Amino acid sequence: MRVTDREIRLLKPTELREANALFRGTLHGPPPSDEDWERVQHAYQPERSWGAFADGSVIGLARSVDSALTVPGDAQVELAAVTAVGVRSDRTRRGVLTELMRAQLTEFAERGVPVAALHASEAVIYGRFGYGVATLERSIRLDRRRATVHNGAAGGDEIELHALDDAVRLLPEIYAPFAAGRAGMVARPSYLWPGWEGHYRRSNGAMRLAVHRGRDGVDGYAAYRVHNPWPEEGDCVLYVEDMNVANPDAFAGLWRYLLSVDLVDRIDAFGRPVDEPVAALLTDQRACETRGVYDDVWVRLVDVPAALSARTYRGSGSVVIDVRDTILTSNSGSYRLSADGCARTDEPAALSMTVDTLAMLYLGGWQASALVTAGRIEATDAESVAIADRLFAADVAPWCGTPF
Ligand SMILES: CC(C)(COP(=O)(O)OP(=O)(O)OC[C@H]1O[C@@H](n2cnc3c(N)ncnc32)[C@H](O)[C@@H]1OP(=O)(O)O)[C@@H](O)C(=O)NCCC(=O)NCCS
Repeated sequence: MRVTDREIRLLKPTELREANALFRGTLHGPPPSDEDWERVQHAYQPERSWGAFADGSVIGLARSVDSALTVPGDAQVELAAVTAVGVRSDRTRRGVLTELMRAQLTEFAERGVPVAALHASEAVIYGRFGYGVATLERSIRLDRRRATVHNGAAGGDEIELHALDDAVRLLPEIYAPFAAGRAGMVARPSYLWPGWEGHYRRSNGAMRLAVHRGRDGVDGYAAYRVHNPWPEEGDCVLYVEDMNVANPDAFAGLWRYLLSVDLVDRIDAFGRPVDEPVAALLTDQRACETRGVYDDVWVRLVDVPAALSARTYRGSGSVVIDVRDTILTSNSGSYRLSADGCARTDEPAALSMTVDTLAMLYLGGWQASALVTAGRIEATDAESVAIADRLFAADVAPWCGTPF
């Protein structure tokens, strides 16, 4: 193995296309065409892309965009949405990602960003950098010819249908109010939309945006595409890829519409909230099958006291937790948590954990008691664990719903 010097630094604007080609290559995709690049260059927020260089070429990339994360209690905290992480396959397992992650986390800390988040291609990569699985998502499959919405459900309103060119224009504004919908959801800055559009331009099946309008205006939408092969080549599938609803009318109305689309054999919806009651909407609940539950967004508390202070806590009582962070070491220490908030303390801790485990608790996606059972939290007594369960609990399952 030839050892080379490498440099970790922010990319210059002239290096972004090479970096984009590198990243696509790490996912086994082709470099961007001129047409792709025309669009994709707008996904790069200035001063947010870290590159690793060796022998005059980009060999690794980790970038982010500025966003906001909804936390329990409905506050939105500043978020670094990390994306496009990759290392050229002839340079992996030599610490390149480790250096990129450290540089990026240091940048976030210096800028005072309290929280970072990402979606992981593999579950073994990011825990070591302090990221933990904060929310879960569910994939469901509906047998379209068997699934009927039960009579008591709301709905029946008009649906407006738009094709991709209109959807690109309309959806950023339609989505914006949904970002505060539940803990785990994120704002979608302009930098996230070129990737969204590129996905639909490359995918099989024409994209459609179904918009539900209630008494007070738009209250739900579903972005989907239908893949309709020759019958002998497989099922006609409607893929629901992005969907948000503000109330039961929009929920039932949009599902009624999706189930009414002709020629479709089955509907596959992925990345859905784990508590979304689609089966309960149907007369035959078995027509909706859960295909899997997966890790959704991974969260990294960059500034532990600021992040813990941004959310609310439930119930009475308080608990002292001890947090260990080997990368952003100023986070290490003890914190007293109660409905009054979070404060650093020198008192002895009842629960001890690493910062990636704290991220699992942060949005209410996991119970402290479950993480004690799983050996991720050390606890001195059962009462403190029960208090922590109540303090961190969320009203509804946290969920992100935005791929980035
Ligand atoms: C994931 C990826 C960026 C890792 O880069 P890398 O430079 O090899 O990572 P490092 O050498 O810094 O690895 C740090 C540690 O993580 C481990 N690790 C990193 N990626 C891993 C993986 N995919 N599977 C298992 N372990 C992994 C390394 O073994 C190493 O462990 P050690 O500290 O115990 O030795 C790189 O493999 C890659 O580009 N993969 C394909 C694209 C991709 O999946 N990107 C992530 C998108 S979310």
